[in-house]
Amino acid sequence: MTQNDKKRNAEMETAAMKANSVDLARLVQALGHRSIVLVGIMGCGKSTVGKRLAQRLGLEFIDADSEIERAANMTVAEIFAEHGEPYFRSGEERVIARLLGEGPQVLATGGGAFMSEATRTEITEHGLSLWLKVDFETVMARVRRRSTRPLLQNPDPEGTMRKLMAEREPVYAQAALTVTSKDVPHEAVVDQIVITMADYLFQDEELTSSQTSNS
Ligand code: S3P
Repeated sequence: MTQNDKKRNAEMETAAMKANSVDLARLVQALGHRSIVLVGIMGCGKSTVGKRLAQRLGLEFIDADSEIERAANMTVAEIFAEHGEPYFRSGEERVIARLLGEGPQVLATGGGAFMSEATRTEITEHGLSLWLKVDFETVMARVRRRSTRPLLQNPDPEGTMRKLMAEREPVYAQAALTVTSKDVPHEAVVDQIVITMADYLFQDEELTSSQTSNS
């Protein structure tokens, strides 16, 4: 094992201990009706990590793309091919707005969803957004294994991905929370998310209660 691996393992152990000490019932309570909304580029792990996060918190996991496919009775690739991207985007806005009324839950959104200002506003009102930030190499290694993403079905998927990441990252950065996910086990990413959520939500609670007791 290299020094780097040892360091990474030690960091993961510390994070796992910290995450285990978080009161998850209090975390869910602090969330209220808000959904935890995972945003980020294709292949960043919104669905795989999202499922595990939902399990950890005892919440339902919903994948917005699957809901769009269900509503349209077509795959995302078919919607793009038959009706074009603008049609997909307006369906995506509607479906996400509807799903946000059903929180609390863990909601994974498609990589382009957060680019819509209307969707960002809905998410701010009814959710807690979390950007799963992943580097280019990790994302490319993952998306290469699948051919289900219409935006990458062209002669230069790497160039497209670089362009999309450059355009979108400043917008993803507007999410309330960010967790950087390296190529580590999914449970380690969930640990980081739990810690990040607790820092944010419990601090919010403390601020509210100190404001109430001061007034
Ligand atoms: C898209 C990402 C996809 C899907 C659609 C468009 C995008 O979702 O919504 O292919 O614009 O980045 P994933 O991020 O889950 O792959």
